Amino acid sequence: MVMRLSPMRKRYEAGPTVIVSPGGDEMTNVFAVNGSNRKGKGNLAKLLSPFLEGMEEAGAEVELVYSQDLDIEDCLGDFSCWSKQPGICIQKDEMQELYPMLRASDILVLGIPRYIPMPAPMQAFINRLCPLIDPFLEARDGRTVARFHKDVRIKRIVLVAVSGWWEVGNMDLLVEIVEEVAKDTGTEFSGALLRPHAYEMARPEAADVLEAARRLGRQLVSNGRMSPDDLAIVSRPLVSWEDNLKRSNLGYEETKRRTGG
Ligand SMILES: Cc1cc2nc3c(=O)[nH]c(=O)nc-3n(C[C@H](O)[C@H](O)[C@H](O)COP(=O)(O)O)c2cc1C
Repeated sequence: MVMRLSPMRKRYEAGPTVIVSPGGDEMTNVFAVNGSNRKGKGNLAKLLSPFLEGMEEAGAEVELVYSQDLDIEDCLGDFSCWSKQPGICIQKDEMQELYPMLRASDILVLGIPRYIPMPAPMQAFINRLCPLIDPFLEARDGRTVARFHKDVRIKRIVLVAVSGWWEVGNMDLLVEIVEEVAKDTGTEFSGALLRPHAYEMARPEAADVLEAARRLGRQLVSNGRMSPDDLAIVSRPLVSWEDNLKRSNLGYEETKRRTGG
């Protein structure tokens, strides 16, 4: 098992891969994207790392990329991957290296920090999933749905999100977006690890949050499910709302004093 914590540029072998464990079982391949512009130094990495490590502990092969490091453009929007050459993106950038890896993955982990609503490189990555989607559309449960092409193994999509403000509802928008991605690709939305007032994760009392993230990674690979109790631990309040606002505003007052603002 290899945990690749640095950008994978030029490090994959082209073509779908089936990796077999020493016991002969087919391994679960996980493709994870850390969408934080602060990459390994951000709050997202603090939460995503134990989750991915838990997946590895359960026997998964994990590939991790940082969207900020990827040399990719946003989608051109010309639908060439649907109407001219289904499954082929005409943009010859680093996404071409990721498509074979995505096709060979069982679980897609989208790590997204809450911006308005998310960092641009992560948004570009999500839009560039389009060539993996089969253009055949169906009506199901009152909406138009599609699914991944048959050669794409991805069956589950998970969201790992962090936000600055105190309330967990700040990430509803991100949950909705990733649920949409799942509906548009015919995959299961397996749930979301949501960490509000993420800066408070630096406190020693937050160790249980990171332990729960690790357990959730193991559970998802072992059983295909994540425990609601552990998801609740990941989101639990680490300080009161009042203290969170007080601390944040005190910091601002100090900055104003220092800068004469
Ligand atoms: C441009 C920008 C917009 C943000 N908007 C929100 C927001 O609407 N709600 C919120 O809770 N946090 C917001 N945040 C705070 C981030 O979610 C928080 O800083 C988080 O830790 C970022 O992830 P990172 O530490 O991995 O960089 C915003 C941050 C930035 C830079």
